Amino acid sequence: MAWPRTRHSSPPSRSTPGAAPGSGWRGRAGARAWLIGWPPGTGTGWHDHGGSHGAFATAAGQLTEQSLAAQLPTEGWTLLELAEGVDRERQLTAQTGRAFGPRTMSTRCSTPRRRNTRCRVHAYYPPLPLMRRYGRTGRVLRLEEVEWPEEWA
Ligand SMILES: [Fe+2]
Repeated sequence: MAWPRTRHSSPPSRSTPGAAPGSGWRGRAGARAWLIGWPPGTGTGWHDHGGSHGAFATAAGQLTEQSLAAQLPTEGWTLLELAEGVDRERQLTAQTGRAFGPRTMSTRCSTPRRRNTRCRVHAYYPPLPLMRRYGRTGRVLRLEEVEWPEEWA
């Protein structure tokens, strides 16, 4: 999970009937899920999911996902040069989605400008222990920030 960043910097509303504000849904085995709204022009930036498995599905609208076709180490580095040819991009339309493993990282999603808000359901197991955000210049990824669950409540 990564909340889409806007110039207002607050996470979009993810509360729903039956879920405490800010907590999303809790599954039996500890899985967590959120419904996240994506206002036009927002994106997550490059990030990972702290080693959790995850899946998401677009409930409305269309999102663009950029990802890396490489299993990157999640710890022990602050700068990493990517090999050529690892970038991927896909369009995720309504009722489509995908799953990813604990070492699939540094994905980025964004919405095209001048269109309506998109909604997407995100689910993670185990619950996200943390999330790392990265900057990217060309083929170089740079660890910039680590976010903790307390920051998403
Ligand atoms: Fe994410």
